[in-house]
Amino acid sequence: MEYLEIKGGRALSGTVRISGAKNAALPMLAATLLAGGSFEIHQVPDLQDVRTFLQLLKELGVEIERTRDSTLVIDSSKLDSFEAPYDLVRRMRASVLVLSPLVARLGRARVSLPGGCAIGARPIDFHLKGLELMGAKLEIREGFVEARAKRLKGAHIYFDIPSVTGTENLMMAACLAKGNTVLENAAKEPEVVALGKMLQDMGAKIKGLGTDTIVVQGTTDLRPVSCTIIPDRIEAGTYLMAAGAAGGELVIENCVPEHLETVIIKLKAAGLKIKVIDADKLKVKRRGRLRSVDIKTQPYPGFPTDLQAQIMVLMATAGRLSVITETIFENRFMHVAELKRLGADIRVEGRSAIVKGVKHLYGAPVMATDLRASASLVLAGLAAKGTTVVQGLEHLDRGYEKMDEKLLSVGARIRRIGDN
Ligand code: EPZ
Repeated sequence: MEYLEIKGGRALSGTVRISGAKNAALPMLAATLLAGGSFEIHQVPDLQDVRTFLQLLKELGVEIERTRDSTLVIDSSKLDSFEAPYDLVRRMRASVLVLSPLVARLGRARVSLPGGCAIGARPIDFHLKGLELMGAKLEIREGFVEARAKRLKGAHIYFDIPSVTGTENLMMAACLAKGNTVLENAAKEPEVVALGKMLQDMGAKIKGLGTDTIVVQGTTDLRPVSCTIIPDRIEAGTYLMAAGAAGGELVIENCVPEHLETVIIKLKAAGLKIKVIDADKLKVKRRGRLRSVDIKTQPYPGFPTDLQAQIMVLMATAGRLSVITETIFENRFMHVAELKRLGADIRVEGRSAIVKGVKHLYGAPVMATDLRASASLVLAGLAAKGTTVVQGLEHLDRGYEKMDEKLLSVGARIRRIGDN
């Protein structure tokens, strides 16, 4: 079993380069199913979730070639299956993103229902209801959703909650539907906009990207394109908070500062010095003890739920009391019990965690439970006095490319130990 050993208390210094965004790469890889021919996708992060998704595409008959280290050439001309197996979907729920492209391209899809997830039930009812409104016949059988449609037709769809992958799935479906589709209360995340821009380059007619109303005029043919995955704003936010946890000064390069506006406002209010030093570079410095700030996670452009566990680490040693409210997922406080093992003073009341700042955290063995919780435990290890051992690295490796190596390169005392 692999684990990370972190000796805390040393300030960081140096430059961290951000990788392509996991949550942009997955829908954009799914979009290659919409058109035969050769796509070239640059800055694809080397993550477990991406490897799982590529395995799924290969099982559908897609040809994939890795050229330079982070560029993929993908050709779905020989798409010959419409089934996404349970074993793959179970491991990576974003596999549900192949549902619409398969129905739109082949008229049929058989995708395993994703099942539960550590952070919440995470149903896909919006995805399914939207496809039904577009004329797909759906059946749930033996844990699979079977969808059929000669040709999807445009529809007016309202999202009760601005679902990120729900918007992405139905936007892809709408591109090849007959007529117009309106997606109301749609998600505005940069990753949704990035997918939309790729679809526009492929010939799709989409308006309203980045707003809560997206209008798609269906077309009959789309073409393969070359595109680059946007930098990962959650990874960038995590490293801003690594400097906040460990102290010192970092340059974060290959990031998009405007994707982190709310996060930067909150971190500055907590006392971090953050400067935009270039169109794709941030400098972050921490001096002295941070101030407590309240956080409420919201859909973009609000504070991202995917950075909630990480900022909780900063609040655990801040000056006073911070109330962190998680409005997106119903069970995203599993890192609290682990942080308390390190000496944090946190009380969960319903959807809020009351974090009372303590002077220091103290190293101990901890267990990661989900992707962003694992990142928060690494940050806590950087902040804590003594040694912290983080187990459950399969969670971390799903969404962070070489996190231990990137931290090592800026002075962290961190070692990956294990069976390989
Ligand atoms: C995406 O998940 C991200 N994953 C998540 O990142 C992120 O936390 C989440 O958006 C919110 O920003 C990818 O993009 C691959 P949602 P998604 O649909 O699309 C409810 C990470 O750590 N809902 O926006 O699954 C749902 O239960 C991951 O990188 C329904 O009720 O999230 C949740 O409460 C974790 N029915 C809320 O909406 C549906 O059909 C928002 O979920 C769909 C969603």
